[in-house]
Amino acid sequence: MKVLARYAFRRATLDDLLLVVSWARSAEELRYVFPRAAWPAEALQLIEHLASHEEGFVVCDQDRVVGFANLYKPRASKAWIGHLIVHPERRRFGVANYLISALKTIAKERYQSQAIATICYESNPIGLAFYQKLGFTIEGWETRLDHRGEAVKVFRLEQTLK
Ligand SMILES: CC(C)(COP(=O)(O)OP(=O)(O)OC[C@H]1O[C@@H](n2cnc3c(N)ncnc32)[C@H](O)[C@@H]1OP(=O)(O)O)[C@@H](O)C(=O)NCCC(=O)NCCS
Repeated sequence: MKVLARYAFRRATLDDLLLVVSWARSAEELRYVFPRAAWPAEALQLIEHLASHEEGFVVCDQDRVVGFANLYKPRASKAWIGHLIVHPERRRFGVANYLISALKTIAKERYQSQAIATICYESNPIGLAFYQKLGFTIEGWETRLDHRGEAVKVFRLEQTLK
């Protein structure tokens, strides 16, 4: 993994969301980020969904937007990460690592959060490998309804913020 110093981090704009919603390469991948979405995705619905969440952030490589995630429900006890996705051609270059580091700093400094957490599908080995590589641990699991209304197992991953 190469974490490049040239990456920059900023709040997402509506134009960024237009790009982000085109990044999922398959129906399965789309659902790792938008569990209730149909395939092919209806871009407007995904944009509305993202825009309705608190605090969307992007990573840029020079002028190009290459990563996205939300920070939501930021509290002193815990803050949550959602909708993490990296441009398909920019994966495995440390983009998500950089993004999560930045979100952890915001959670800690701005909200005094003591922990950060996310939800990841049991069937998403890359998402699980990613978060575990960063030091998140599985703290539990639950079921969520997917786009067909069927229950799927998701893990809750957490990390203490020191
Ligand atoms: C998961 C995802 C966000 C990772 O983004 P990324 O920018 O490629 O991740 P990074 O380059 O920062 O990877 C950091 C570490 O995570 C692990 N990792 C990342 N991708 C991996 C892969 N395909 N296979 C195994 N481990 C992987 C590695 O340990 C990696 O470190 P290394 O490259 O030094 O081995 C990206 O693959 C993605 O957008 N997937 C589709 C959407 C999704 O599943 N989101 C997560 C929902 S829980």
